[in-house]
Amino acid sequence: MDCSGKTAVVAGGFGGIGYATCNSLLSKGVKNLGIFDLFENGDLLQKLKSNFPKANIKFWKVDATKKSEIENGFKGAVAEFKSIDIFVTSVGVVDEMNPERCVQINLLGTMNLNYVAIDYMSVAKGGKGGLVANVASLSGIVPFPLCVAYCATKHGIVGLTRSLGSDFYLKTTGIKFVSICPGFTETPLLGNFAGSPVNSVKTDSAKLAQQTAETCGKLLVEALEKDKNGSIWMIDAGKMKEIIPPEYYSGPTGT
Ligand SMILES: NC(=O)c1ccc[n+]([C@@H]2O[C@H](COP(=O)([O-])OP(=O)(O)OC[C@H]3O[C@@H](n4cnc5c(N)ncnc54)[C@H](O)[C@@H]3O)[C@@H](O)[C@H]2O)c1
Repeated sequence: MDCSGKTAVVAGGFGGIGYATCNSLLSKGVKNLGIFDLFENGDLLQKLKSNFPKANIKFWKVDATKKSEIENGFKGAVAEFKSIDIFVTSVGVVDEMNPERCVQINLLGTMNLNYVAIDYMSVAKGGKGGLVANVASLSGIVPFPLCVAYCATKHGIVGLTRSLGSDFYLKTTGIKFVSICPGFTETPLLGNFAGSPVNSVKTDSAKLAQQTAETCGKLLVEALEKDKNGSIWMIDAGKMKEIIPPEYYSGPTGT
């Protein structure tokens, strides 16, 4: 999808990867940008507005674990921008000591963000269709022994995104879905590797970073531009690569 002149909304838009994605989308000519996040970050919002004075940039407070707040966010964004072309979810936590919270935010939060996005973007519901990109993780496609709960939620996001990113849904919604799988990226999230109920490894996770958030956000937008429904993009060590999973099964899928 060509981003120029489009309307985009980024959930988790004040986080490391989310904010870099906002910058990258605006650099590519996005004209309306909505940011959903837990809290408004006035400094970051102002910086975007100063750097991209022609764009219409707005914030909505959205806790991804609260369906009513997701609804309000979309309602507000559609009232302001008329329609949404691109929706990015970049919401997540590492919290191995609290797997319920990890599932609630990473997996259920992303799922509900996607379901409400379909309500507001689907051509079957009066929208224009478009593209949804879910930031999963490299640990959505490979094991991650240090953070097993996190890894499970990220595998869940890839399964969710690939299932929604099928012709079955595209035919009626006009929305394409893509999975983004970053490797270790310099953001505040990396500070939260503190052991778990199944390991007590203390990792200096900051040392694991292989790329900046800015590089990740730039490549993420390049993945969106490929406009390929159901695709999976690994973004690691400053490089992007499409992941094509093996075809394990070709029987009936029930669709
Ligand atoms: N940093 C990495 O190495 C890395 C690697 C792979 C995937 N990711 C994923 O990238 C995404 C962004 O993470 P990041 O690295 O930028 O970290 P970050 O901590 O900077 O950003 C996380 C964002 O999620 C938001 N968030 C948390 N709970 C929320 C909730 N309940 N409702 C709404 N928003 C909520 C935060 O406010 C923040 O904006 C996450 O899904 C993360 O799992 C990060």
